[in-house]
Parts: sequence; C-alpha cells; structure tokens
Amino acid sequence: MIMRTSAELIAPAWLDPARPVPDIRTALPGPRASEILKRDQAVTSPSLPRAYPLMPRRAFGAVIADADDNLFLDFNAGIAVNSTGHCHPRVVEAIQQQAAHLLHYSASDFYLPIYSQMCEALAATAPMTGPVRVFLTNSGAEAVEGALKLARHATGRQNVISFYGGFHGRTYGAVSLTASKSKYHKGFGPLLPGVYHAPYACNRLDPVTGARSHDPDETFDYLENVLFRYELEPTEVAAIFVEPIQGEGGYITPPAQWLVRLRELCDAYEILLVADEVQSGVGRTGKMWAIELAGVQPDILLSAKGIASGLPLGAFMARAELMQAWSMGAHGSTYGGSPVPCAAGLATLEVIESENLLANATEQGEYLLGGLRELWRDFDGLITDVRGVGLMIGVEFRTAAGAEAVQHAAFERGLLVLECGESTLRISPPLVISRDQAETGLRLFADAIGAVAAASLVH
Ligand SMILES: Cc1ncc(COP(=O)(O)O)c(C=O)c1O
Repeated sequence: MIMRTSAELIAPAWLDPARPVPDIRTALPGPRASEILKRDQAVTSPSLPRAYPLMPRRAFGAVIADADDNLFLDFNAGIAVNSTGHCHPRVVEAIQQQAAHLLHYSASDFYLPIYSQMCEALAATAPMTGPVRVFLTNSGAEAVEGALKLARHATGRQNVISFYGGFHGRTYGAVSLTASKSKYHKGFGPLLPGVYHAPYACNRLDPVTGARSHDPDETFDYLENVLFRYELEPTEVAAIFVEPIQGEGGYITPPAQWLVRLRELCDAYEILLVADEVQSGVGRTGKMWAIELAGVQPDILLSAKGIASGLPLGAFMARAELMQAWSMGAHGSTYGGSPVPCAAGLATLEVIESENLLANATEQGEYLLGGLRELWRDFDGLITDVRGVGLMIGVEFRTAAGAEAVQHAAFERGLLVLECGESTLRISPPLVISRDQAETGLRLFADAIGAVAAASLVH
C-alpha cells in the first residue's frame, strides 16, 4: 500500500487541480518557446544534444509547465535526476532554510557539519559490509574521476576496464571510460591511457529481427582469453567500472548472474569493482542501488543525478580501507558537497524513506512494464524489446528513426520520454509518480506508437 505523497497534498497554486495533465494548448514549440529557442540557438554551444524543443518554466511532481503554459507529464525526471519529483516541498524547504543559513564554505579545507551528515547518510545506504567512507562531488563525471584516481592510488595499478555501451561522463577520464557512442570520443584524442573496453552483457542485436540476446560467456571469454592473454596482465588492472544497468547505452539490464561472475573475476585478480550508479541508483530500480538486485557488493560505488533531486551533488563511496590509502591533499574540491546541495541530498534521502518511494518505484514500475509488454505484443513490428526494473525501463524499437518518431509523437501529446542507446526510449519518471499518472503515460505512449505505426503503413 503506497501512501499519498506530501507532493500530492501540497500542490502549488499555479497547478490548477481542475486542469488535466497533460494539456497542450499551443503548437509545439509555442510562441514564447519559439522566441527562447531562437535566442538560445544564437548563443549556446551547439554540442548540447537537445532532443526536442521543451522549455520548462516551472514544475511540480511529475508535471512540467512550459514557457507557454502547456502542461507535460514528465517520464524523464530531468534524465533520472528529479527522484522525489520536481520541487518536492520538503526538498524546497530544506534548500531555502540552508540557503538562509550558509551558502558555502569549502569542505575540502574546513569542517562542514552538513557535509559530514550527508556522508553519514549515504554511507548508511552503502551496499557494502564493513565501514565505508564517502567523498562528495558536484556531478557524476567528477565522481568517476575521483574513483579512477582512488582506484589507481589504492592498488598501485594503472589500468582500468569498462564496457562497450557504458556511459560515465564527459570529462577526460570519464569520457575515456565511456564507450556508448564513438562520437563522444571523436576529435578528442589522445584519451586517458590505460583504459580498455570489453563487451557488456546483452549487447548483441540480431540485425534481422532486432531482438537482443545474451551470451553469458562473451564478456568473460573476451577478458580471460583475449584481453588478459594478449594485451594486459590482470594483475595490472586497478578496477573494472560497470553500470549495473546501462543507462545512456540503452537501458540494458544484464542478468544478475553476470554481475556475480564479474565480482568473482575481480576477486580472482584483486581488481576493484566500481559500480557506476549515477543513473541506476537512488531508488530508480526499487532498490536504493541497482547492484543490490544481484546481491553483489562493489568496492566503490558512484552516485549523482537523483541524489539531491536536482541540485548538483555526486559522491563516490568506498570501503574505508581503500579510501584510507590516500593521504591529505590527494583529492579535494572547492564546491563538492556544498551546503545547499547537501541539504537537498539529505531531504531527498528522508523523502525516499518517509514516502516509501522504493516500494512505489517497484509498484508503478511493474505496472508500467506489464503495460509496455502488452504494447510490444500489439506493435511487434515496431518494438523489439521491453526491459527494465522499477522505474528504469527501456523500450527498444526496430530502428532509430522509429524511436525518434515515437519520442516526437509523445512530446506532441504532452508525454516526455527520451532516447538512449541506438533505438531505445527510456521510461524514467520521478519516483513519486502515481498510478493515475502511470496509466495516463501508458495511454499516451500507446497513442504515440499507434500514430507512428499508422503513418509508416501509409508511407
Ligand atoms: C552512469 C553515468 N555515469 C556518469 C554520468 C555523468 O554524470 P554527469 O552528467 O553528472 O557528469 C552519467 C550521466 O548521464 C551516467 O549516466
């Protein structure tokens, strides 16, 4: 039984309860959004990969009002960031209170009570037995960078392995680990030396049917019989970085046994297992950390995105003896774990607990997954896979063009979903989503797919 969330109880005045959601009243983009778009395009970096012309102006829960006051149902959660929904009253209150008391003091050089509190709260969630230490950052990429440095430092080894399809961020170390699209590397080399990539589970696509299959031995065959045999001694590998569920790479869910085998391989060669939970963590899968689904303990765990409901906060936590391997000054950050993001982070953890958001993610996720699987049966020619757990669900289409067309058709109907991988749409609503909203989203998604299917029959 899911409690009504406080977010449902105290909606802001601008969100008229009599108004349906979504409610699209202008052509998209509307007149105000078009004006902003024009100005934006003249001044911002063209490297930003904008998916469609959404201009959020204000938002609450899973509802976004754009610059023209159209209402959208948000199944993106700001790319898996707004875990407690947009502007959760408890999170907003914590931010406002903290902002009135102390905006900044560098926790790298001084002691900051709220910084230690945030580290304690995160450590209490760590899926590791034994003591854990935490370092706070401003972003996911910074958490990856810190973990890379720690892994090299603590092991005295220089090489690291990550996976094809994996996304770990855009800074140099992180982008060197990233191998989800070659365009992320194009023109930026040389990248960080000592980074190797291996095939992830479930990465194989049948070129004819578009179906995704899994060879349970592929990763391990490659590592043991190719990489470790011809190129790289496993005793010179500091860490393996893995997303327990790949995010940007296509919401790809490996079997639990694959992660168990990865842990065993790491143990055999004393390699650190680093779980990048920047996208999959903080309750998205119905567990606090996705790796818990496999019953595997990482040595280092990375978080960001959902951890502070929208404020810039990231973290890497490690078994205490690993973090104790580096000495004072080895790593720091002026802003990492600044008071206001920490206040948002603490409120986020509190809301996840008090509003049973893990249970809600499981319950609404199962409902959505069931509905999406029915859609797969209805649109078998267009959809090739529906997979996921909790509110981290991927719907894979036969072609990238098909996925993009559905994404746009959904946008036009007021439902926000976002592409990932080659041809997958991710369903990652805020964890506070209600059953009504899940039903509405499912209906709109079916409508969008139906329209695209009908159009492709006509053309
Ligand atoms: C798994 C994963 N790791 C790291 C990152 C990088 O995080 P950020 O964009 O906060 O630097 C992302 C961002 O999408 C991610 O999904």
